Amino acid sequence: PQTPAVSNEPINEYRPGSEETLALQHTMDKMSAEQVDIPCYIGGSEVRTGQTEAVVMPHDHQHVLGQAHMGSSTELNQAADAAIKAQYDWAALPWQSRAAVFLKAADLIAGPYRNQINAATMHGQSKNCFQAEIDSACELIDFLRFNACFYQQIMEQQPVSSPGVWNQLDWRPLEGFVMAITPFNFTAIAGNLPATPAMLGNTVVWKPSGTQMLSAYVIMQVFKAAGLPDGVINMVAADGPVAGAALLPRAELAGVHFTGSTPTFQHIFAEVGGNIGRYRSYPRLVGETGGKDFVFAHESADAGAVATALARGAFEYQGQKCSAASRAYIPSALWPAVQEQLVEDVKSFKMGSTRDFSNFINAVIDERSFDKIKGYIDHAASANDAEIIVGGGCDKSKGYFVEPTVIVTSNPAFKTMQEEIFGPVLTIYVYDEADFEDTLDLCDQGSVYALTGAIFAQDRYMVNHMSDRLRNAAGNFYINDKPTGAVVGQQPFGGGRASGTNDKAGSALNLYRWLSPRTIKETF
Ligand code: NAD
Ligand code: ALA
Repeated sequence: PQTPAVSNEPINEYRPGSEETLALQHTMDKMSAEQVDIPCYIGGSEVRTGQTEAVVMPHDHQHVLGQAHMGSSTELNQAADAAIKAQYDWAALPWQSRAAVFLKAADLIAGPYRNQINAATMHGQSKNCFQAEIDSACELIDFLRFNACFYQQIMEQQPVSSPGVWNQLDWRPLEGFVMAITPFNFTAIAGNLPATPAMLGNTVVWKPSGTQMLSAYVIMQVFKAAGLPDGVINMVAADGPVAGAALLPRAELAGVHFTGSTPTFQHIFAEVGGNIGRYRSYPRLVGETGGKDFVFAHESADAGAVATALARGAFEYQGQKCSAASRAYIPSALWPAVQEQLVEDVKSFKMGSTRDFSNFINAVIDERSFDKIKGYIDHAASANDAEIIVGGGCDKSKGYFVEPTVIVTSNPAFKTMQEEIFGPVLTIYVYDEADFEDTLDLCDQGSVYALTGAIFAQDRYMVNHMSDRLRNAAGNFYINDKPTGAVVGQQPFGGGRASGTNDKAGSALNLYRWLSPRTIKETF
């Protein structure tokens, strides 16, 4: 297939005092003074259940931004019914008409809704303006535009015909409804998970994360403003287990588009497996899940590049990226130079509210997350085989603030080397160059995950050797670069092992999962 005729959305730089900075700050101030009332969207209607949960700022948890109406099993089932009702007419439209709705949505995000999407992400998910711009507005625009191009390429794929025989592939959507279950940490992923199956003719029940409701609400407004027909995407805020129990056993479940933690996806997989006899069709299960992403340096690596990759890869968005660098293997000869620059970089990071654009570090998402991360830091502080070399402070009095923390351990199997912490904690194992091959094995086998990973080396033979040895250790593999920040259309994203089904968001591969083609042969 040809390269899509689109390019990635240019990223605003938000320089101090610039027009774009002032406009974003104005939107933030307006949003933080309002009390938004977020309904469920079912069959095009706004449904207010009266069972509400407060939407708060993680970096100022007494600041309530509004409330979200929570759905119960009743609303969730109504949403599935609405999706099923809408499916025939939606799927019957020409594919270009469906793609056009989402291309319009992309233009709305690029234009009038850009500040709202970013402000909602900054307030509600405590993401700084640069990360919000990249991971919310631009990435969602890219998903929508690139997906329309991938869709066009798929539609053009037709089998061979011959005189007297006309063969076709009818690229149908799945039969039934798709459940999109989304995480808190990437607004773009939250929008893309319902949008991709919907563009392809499916209808969707979208269950956003309870800690992403403000930006989820803006996304629903965009879809409506773009002309999405009633019932195509139905959004219901709900407790995760309640949503799973209500909808996963339904006979019309056509698929689950999930991004979130590994235990949640494993639960969903087991639930679907346990109900397998009930379904009209085998549900498609697409899950992008957790990570314990590595940086592995060879002694030929550039120490400055390694330190920069660690500082940015581990601590952007407080380490709350599935792709975040969270374990590193550094050769002893390189370590003094890496350590010096890494500690200096980390100490230079300012921490505080997202309203001050010079803060690189903001708060972690909620109290449960804060307590979990602090538990890992406390464990390292009291261990004999680990040392905290920078950071370690935690304070939840005003917001859920955790200092960027670097742990050095002499034990490659140390708890924080193996488990996903999902916070600003990086653990480093300094290896002896004589143990290089064994350390590569440790890196490969050192965690159950295989999402992202980065190697650093200037020796070309070693680049090839390490890439080969670590071929199954990461679905997104970086050479001399940090392991975060995959760009739609450039680095299709997804991992293997316990990190997911590797259906590569940002590529045509993901789109195929939401189609169930019918082969048609006609003779004359
Ligand atoms: P989470 O698993 O806690 O929640 C994800 C979603 O699942 C939420 O909407 C939640 O309400 C829902 N849920 C929870 N229990 C459920 C159940 N029993 N049935 C149905 N739905 C249920 O994850 P999170 O804290 O929101 O996100 C962080 C996790 O997501 C991390 O593990 C991170 O690595 C992962 N993640 C992965 C990727 C990727 O592309 N691989 C991207 C972003 C985040
Ligand atoms: N696109 C995100 C990253 O690569 C998941 O960091």
